Amino acid sequence: MKFFIDTADLNEIKEAAALGILDGVTTNPSLMAKVGITGADNIKKHYVDICNIVDGDISAEVISVDFDGMVREAKELSALHPNIVVKIPMIKEGIKAIKWCTDNGIRTNCTLVFSAGQAILAAKAGATYLSPFIGRVDDMNWDGILLIEQIVHIYRIYGFETEVLAASIRNPLHIVRCAEVGADVVTCPLSSILGLFKHPLTDLGLAQFLADYKKGNG
Ligand code: G3P
Repeated sequence: MKFFIDTADLNEIKEAAALGILDGVTTNPSLMAKVGITGADNIKKHYVDICNIVDGDISAEVISVDFDGMVREAKELSALHPNIVVKIPMIKEGIKAIKWCTDNGIRTNCTLVFSAGQAILAAKAGATYLSPFIGRVDDMNWDGILLIEQIVHIYRIYGFETEVLAASIRNPLHIVRCAEVGADVVTCPLSSILGLFKHPLTDLGLAQFLADYKKGNG
């Protein structure tokens, strides 16, 4: 399972990259706004900065909602760096744009996915990644992990190559449950990645080992 970080904060990206287990980065317009990156040129520069920190797939999202605009943005964004994956929303025009990108060698991440039916459409269009938002599904009192399991099951039956990238992850348990049901990728806030380290018995055990060493070695 690949680990992506879901942020546009360069310090968080550097901290996750330093762990040596980071495979990529996802962003979206909300995450860009959160770190104060505005304006088309600044946003493009920020994507390049991220690509220079992490050697892995970096999702860059279009803001157009029509086919021509999405294709224009897909060309511009994919030209920024070979690792850019163009993030395109799950709408009719988006599916057309994803198919165009597939046919023209541009890798895509189909975003804002909330159902297995949407997942089938994206796979048929040849999306490289599919981003179901599991935290937002949970927020609606449905089960985000069950959605991942259902999509993985369908993709395996038909041999779809689209990778299931679980997004809107809110806690470390989401990551573990995604691993159990076969997600190809998880994209997580730094806090959820760091949460995986936590276990009180690890801390207690380490303190004991160090104390015993000190007793014997001064
Ligand atoms: O990757 C999608 C993610 O950024 C959305 O997360 O927590 O706003 O649902 P959230």
